[in-house]
Formats: sequence, C-alpha cells, structure tokens
Amino acid sequence: MRNRQHVNVHSICFMEFSGEMPRLEEGKKVELEIGCADAQFLFERAERDPSRIYIGLEIREPLVDAVNKKAKALNLPVQAVFVHAGLHLSKLLPEQSVAQCFLNFPDPCFKRRHRDRRMINEELLEQLHPLMEKDGEVLMQSDVFDVALDAMDTFERCDELYENMAGPWSFWKGENPYGVRSWREMNCEENDMPIWRMRYLPR
Ligand SMILES: C[S@@+](CC[C@H](N)C(=O)[O-])C[C@H]1O[C@@H](n2cnc3c(N)ncnc32)[C@H](O)[C@@H]1O
Repeated sequence: MRNRQHVNVHSICFMEFSGEMPRLEEGKKVELEIGCADAQFLFERAERDPSRIYIGLEIREPLVDAVNKKAKALNLPVQAVFVHAGLHLSKLLPEQSVAQCFLNFPDPCFKRRHRDRRMINEELLEQLHPLMEKDGEVLMQSDVFDVALDAMDTFERCDELYENMAGPWSFWKGENPYGVRSWREMNCEENDMPIWRMRYLPR
C-alpha cells in the first residue's frame, strides 16, 4: 500500500476524532508516543516490559492499521490511535494516567514557513500536562537542530508546567535512557548523525 510521507495537518478530515479510543486497564502503567509511525520504539518497550500499556498516536491511518495488526500478531500491549494529536489529545486519556511520554523525531522536514504545522506547540503541551502522572517524564528527541530548538522554546515558554531536567534552556547531555530506539533514531545513530534530546518533568 502506498504510504504518504506527509499529510496536511490542517485538513478538515482531522477536525472530528474518528479513531478508536485507547483501552486502558486498571493498575497498568501507560507509555505514550505522539507521532509513533511504525511504533518501533513502543514495540521494543513492550517486549521488555509487557505489563504496561503502550499507546502510539499517529495521523497517518495506514500506519495505525499496520501497528495494530502487528501488535495482535505479536500479542504485545501496543495500541495505535488514528488522531491529530494537537486537536484531540486531551480527550483520549484520563488525567494523570501517563507515566512516560515520547516525542521522537517529529517534523523532520521542518521549514520555517510551515511553522504552524509543527507537532509540538503550546496547545499540545497544555493538553499533555494534565494527562501526565505527577512523577512522569517527557522525552523529546530530534536530529534536526531547528526542530529541537523550536521544541525547547515551546517547553521553556510553558515553564510553569514543565521543568527541564538539564536546567532551563539546556539539552540533555546523556543518552536516551529508555534502552530502545525508534526507527529514525536507529537510522541516525547508524549514520553518525547528531541527536538533540530534552527531558522534562511535569510540575
Ligand atoms: C518523522 S516521523 C517519526 C516517527 C517515529 N517517532 C520515529 O522516531 O521513528 C513523525 C511522525 O509523526 C506523525 N505526526 C505528525 N503530526 C502529527 C499529529 N499532529 N498527530 C499525530 N501524529 C503526527 C507523522 O505522521 C509521522 O509518522
């Protein structure tokens, strides 16, 4: 099946939520990836600890279907949800239900003139904040410096909601602490490309 690389995030077809709501289970921790694509990161997390629930949000419907098929075939607790996260995130999950949120390599074809299409913006971060557990964590990573800087600017402007673990306006100097890699992360590392990371705690 042809899989378009980009969608118009302003398309009217995303205005109404038409995906399936995630299914949570009492007492099970939730990890969330916004913009999960093939959800490689979540599948690897799920293999390591299948006692949690792994939810991937994705705006490209064929990818959502493929992830859900794979999860069923592998019997892993990964669920993909077809959604424009910026419009509907706050309706998808209960308050304080997310232990970890991953923003892995969003908007790789970043152009300043398309700034209004960015996945990480203040509206997204404001919706995310109440969904995070009090001791939860958000990881953001990108191989595009402008994208990373733009995301940092957005987080730092929301500093009443999030605390930068490396100190204000600083990138995380260490590795990705989660022990698994997204598809794009794996490609960047294999090609010796730099990756900028940030870790934030909800206040
Ligand atoms: C470059 S890919 C990165 C995929 C994966 N996280 C990785 O690191 O390999 C970014 C993904 O975010 C998705 N995306 C972009 N805007 C989105 C939005 N508003 N809501 C949900 N997904 C979105 C894109 O369709 C794409 O699959």
